[in-house]
Amino acid sequence: MSAANGKGSGLENVVATRTRLSSVDGQAGELVIAGHRVEDLAERRGFEEVCLLLWTGALPTAQQVTALRDRLGRRRVEVHRVLVERRAAPLRDPMDSLRSILSAFESSGDLEEDAVTMLAAVAVANTWWWSAHNGLPAAAPREDLSTAADYLRLLLGHEASAHAVRGLEQYLVTVSDHGMNASTFTARVIASTRSDLISAVVGAVGALKGPLHGGAPGPVLEMLDAIGSPERAEEWLRAELDAGRRIMGMGHRVYRVRDPRAAVFERAITELSKERDAGVRLRLARSVERTAEELLAERHPERALKANVEFYTAVLLEAVGVPRELFAATFALGRMAGWTAHVMEQRAEDRLIRPQSEYVGPMPS
Ligand code: COA
Repeated sequence: MSAANGKGSGLENVVATRTRLSSVDGQAGELVIAGHRVEDLAERRGFEEVCLLLWTGALPTAQQVTALRDRLGRRRVEVHRVLVERRAAPLRDPMDSLRSILSAFESSGDLEEDAVTMLAAVAVANTWWWSAHNGLPAAAPREDLSTAADYLRLLLGHEASAHAVRGLEQYLVTVSDHGMNASTFTARVIASTRSDLISAVVGAVGALKGPLHGGAPGPVLEMLDAIGSPERAEEWLRAELDAGRRIMGMGHRVYRVRDPRAAVFERAITELSKERDAGVRLRLARSVERTAEELLAERHPERALKANVEFYTAVLLEAVGVPRELFAATFALGRMAGWTAHVMEQRAEDRLIRPQSEYVGPMPS
């Protein structure tokens, strides 16, 4: 396919590879992860369970889930010890910090072993950053907790409620994989050179950091704060669009209908609202979504621009107690499940990804 317009094709509609990991139907608004509808996984399954589903292609037994949970718990404790020994100083930006902490690990040469280290390391790196940001010593992880429960405990400084843990679990499961998105593609390109899994996921973190990919939910919350109440939504959004800025959390390269993950998060927030005051935020978010959708339809009648995953991510993560500075880095925790599975799949395929470019520069005379 040639890059026909001045902007380049962005590889839109190009099928880069075959995968058993997830299917995104942008017209119907359906996401299937390893044979299961995302709504079902979010409702019934835990994060460790979905990691194993992605890595092996089958739902694991209860013993396998417990074994992975314990292994991840032990690995978090080891990673924490390594960071203490290295006196690792977190960088100013949490995604830079995450990238640099992950890249300091050496590959064991075993894909699953490296995948476990990377999953554990994201949880520790993010919570480590938050402690340092607040001038506090980083508490040690606990081996006996699930990834979601320990993550929230390390962030909040106390054990989170079962509802909050479940809310985060639903978030991590829902974002675990999503077709050939930019960071997953990055990981697969790196893996296709037979480089190691750690190099591949470090590249993926770099891709996720960009605001057009995983960096949107923090700005979504800033937008909701700036709008303040539903009556102000239209005026605020119009001014943004008139200034030529994009509305964060709206639009998607693949979905032409509402992102199905937005609905999963909306349901999870509704559940959480019974316990804490997330209801006001949810009402504001719904109203801003409706208005943004109408205004974007006026300006781009040719392109359906609806809420994407980031829109309600902001509200859900805020409701479970994840600080907004860590929204993108928490996305990396969930997506690490998919990245590592894609690296495994790519390595099994063992074919170098090497497309071509269309030269539009001058030729020698
Ligand atoms: N706000 C305002 N305008 C938007 C928009 C948004 N959120 N999303 C797309 N548009 C506009 C584009 O500027 C473009 O206008 P133009 O033709 O006048 O330049 C038009 O709609 C078509 O855009 P499209 O081709 O659908 O965008 P894309 O596929 O290249 O980009 C995103 C998809 C996600 C990068 C884009 O929608 C976006 O930037 N959204 C905001 C950031 C975000 O939420 N990211 C998280 C994604 S999960």
